[in-house]
Amino acid sequence: MKRKDTALKILALNSSPRTGALSKTALMLGRLVEGMREAGALVEVVNLREKKIKNCLGCYTCWTKTPGVCIHKDDMTRELFPKWLESDIAVYATPLYHYGMTATLKAFQERTLPASMPFFEIRGARMHHPDRGKRPAIVVLSVSGMPDEAHFSALSAHMKYCFAHDNRLLAEIYRPAAEVMTTPFFKEKAGDILNAATEAGRELVRNRGISPQTMARITQPLAGPEFYTEVVNVVWKSCIEERITPGELELKREPPRG
Ligand SMILES: Cc1cc2nc3c(=O)[nH]c(=O)nc-3n(C[C@H](O)[C@H](O)[C@H](O)COP(=O)(O)O)c2cc1C
Repeated sequence: MKRKDTALKILALNSSPRTGALSKTALMLGRLVEGMREAGALVEVVNLREKKIKNCLGCYTCWTKTPGVCIHKDDMTRELFPKWLESDIAVYATPLYHYGMTATLKAFQERTLPASMPFFEIRGARMHHPDRGKRPAIVVLSVSGMPDEAHFSALSAHMKYCFAHDNRLLAEIYRPAAEVMTTPFFKEKAGDILNAATEAGRELVRNRGISPQTMARITQPLAGPEFYTEVVNVVWKSCIEERITPGELELKREPPRG
């Protein structure tokens, strides 16, 4: 275990609106954080749904009148932005919503504008706004309902364009078909996926990256396409007939333990 003053500071931002065992973002993030803490990092988890984060006004007050400070007086200005600036790593955890991040996480990201300066600067082949100071490295974690890994491609392209150019993107963790992970049918595979998420947390702290072996375990397929089109559709049909949400159905079940 590292000493507290030298330990990596990690801010884990969970942008799922869902809580508890129902949220697959929380499930995966919880295990990632467990591994990070085991490896000696100081990790704070923030559920963004509990915070007041107003939308960016585009007024550029943070670039002109009060450099580095947003005009809004909300949880982002008072608490989250200072914590984000102080952290070595920020985990951006989001359910895949319409092939992208949640609006909550996007609002958070837009509100990090005060960390940049207004000037245009050519760096490599691209135009940039220079950083006002130190910023955290980024780890992206996302989960989806559908099984295709390609569904994360727009989110991944966004994150790479934002963060990869200056080596700030430490890792991208994308878990497809996450909704069915908690069904008893996939208990064994889900256990391995969750154990791999914990291992990814340890590796990120120790090596600043995730090994291909661990990543392969995280993204391992659960079933073929027939399963999803047949079994999942049966579940949806019964939810509609019984007028019950998938959440109400799932809360009756035990979440898997790794
Ligand atoms: C508004 C909305 C949009 C979604 N968009 C997608 C999508 O584009 N692709 C996909 O595979 N799943 C999509 N899903 C499913 C979620 O990604 C999936 O249910 C995930 O497990 C939610 O994360 P959570 O359990 O942490 O809330 C969407 C769900 C909602 C509610």
